[in-house]
Amino acid sequence: MIFESHAHYDDSAFDEDREEILGKCREQGISSIVNVSASLKSVKTTLALAEAYDFIYGAVGIHPDEVGELNEENFSWLKEMCRHPKAVAVGEIGLDYYWDKEGHETQKYWFSRQLELAGELGLPVIIHSREAALDTLEVVQSAHKPGYKAVVHCFSYGPELAAEYLKLGYYIGVGGVVTFKNAKKLKEVVKLVPAERILLETDCPYLAPEPFRGKRNSSLNLLRVAEAVGQLKEMETEEVVRITQENAKRFYLNK
Ligand code: NI
Repeated sequence: MIFESHAHYDDSAFDEDREEILGKCREQGISSIVNVSASLKSVKTTLALAEAYDFIYGAVGIHPDEVGELNEENFSWLKEMCRHPKAVAVGEIGLDYYWDKEGHETQKYWFSRQLELAGELGLPVIIHSREAALDTLEVVQSAHKPGYKAVVHCFSYGPELAAEYLKLGYYIGVGGVVTFKNAKKLKEVVKLVPAERILLETDCPYLAPEPFRGKRNSSLNLLRVAEAVGQLKEMETEEVVRITQENAKRFYLNK
């Protein structure tokens, strides 16, 4: 059974056949799915999905591209939503200097506030970081306290940075990119990171693995990610599936 640690099934890309795809996921060995929110609106749609399906959990948080909509009033609301019985993480939160939709200070401010919120509520964190390697590490290191749990989702940096996150006890999220021929850096990272610190993810509908690159992604493709990880770490695919499922259970469900 595969644990899908990062998906966006509330995305409009699934409007036509959401129920069918989720039914297939369940039939084809996906044990659990964490649906991740990115905006105030998607916090609601994420929690609605988690209420409708017993194998879906929700992550509650505002993506760096969307932090412009945050203020004290809706931040209190966000905190309430984190207390939903099926909310298992704060995310995705972080810094995105690639799209650069909000000023860096604004991004850093709400990233820190959401990290504090996770610490206060004892929830793990899903970090999104794109072209903001050093600032992300700086914000995370200053917020870090013993016992904090985080995953750097869709890890896009090199081995040195991965080592910094491993030192903090954090996890590395690995998805379809690991199957791309040109993903040299990520392949090096996967070789270096112990299997016990890897979470399998799709980030669907985005980032489909080969041979579906460019098409709509779903958790049904996770086995290809597990295979690619297995090849790099010289492990059987089933072993990768088993270990990463345990990791995700420990990370999100405290099991
Ligand atoms: Ni995502």
